[in-house]
Amino acid sequence: MKEERLLHARAGALWAFRTGAELDAAARFTRIADAMVEHKAHRRVVELARQAAHDELRHYDRCAALARRFGATPPPLRTRDAKPLRAGDGDGRRQTLYEAVAMGCVTESLSVALLVEMRTAATDDEVAQTVTEILRDEVQHSRLGWAHLAAECEHVDVTFLAQHLPAMLADTLHEEVFATPEQTSNDALAGLGGLPRARRLAVVVAALRDVVFPGLARFGIDPDAGERWLASRIPPIGAS
Ligand SMILES: [Fe+2]
Ligand SMILES: [Fe+2]
Repeated sequence: MKEERLLHARAGALWAFRTGAELDAAARFTRIADAMVEHKAHRRVVELARQAAHDELRHYDRCAALARRFGATPPPLRTRDAKPLRAGDGDGRRQTLYEAVAMGCVTESLSVALLVEMRTAATDDEVAQTVTEILRDEVQHSRLGWAHLAAECEHVDVTFLAQHLPAMLADTLHEEVFATPEQTSNDALAGLGGLPRARRLAVVVAALRDVVFPGLARFGIDPDAGERWLASRIPPIGAS
């Protein structure tokens, strides 16, 4: 009984933590959508970004409901001011592309891979339903990054993104792997949505190698700096 209480407390803390990530994502997509309008991005891509911001708030609700069910108190729903991910050269259009690629092509693609793994591990119905619903949306969110990149590729040089891959990966891996509270290898917790860090890391590295890097390379963005960053940051897995 005590063990179950402990397990639920850890699951609750994890889902409460995720609500914050959903609020940050909503703020980022809102800012990206506004910037896309300013830089006359394709209407369909702007719609996807607005829809993504809306979806992230629904994800907040779903994660908050799970947190409460496991006895945790999620942070209140409020608008956040997510720190911009900076390309750093003062060019607004490039900055927007940087953020769309960082959020869509990188973060959301990795999120999809992690959610697939979480769905496989889920042993609780509400956890499985929540993960399935969020996964369906995250697939769309990653598409918005790829769609914007494809559209921009027709008009501007997108290869400058190659040099920024280490910074993008550092931000994303921090959020997806290292910022999440550490959980030891625990199958019961994995069933409630808490994949062990080593498993999350393995999934993320495989998704980068199999999906993100080849995808960027198709647009002429050399993934070499990203590959090297990955190998130096995560030697045991990166050395494969
Ligand atoms: Fe989300
Ligand atoms: Fe998302």
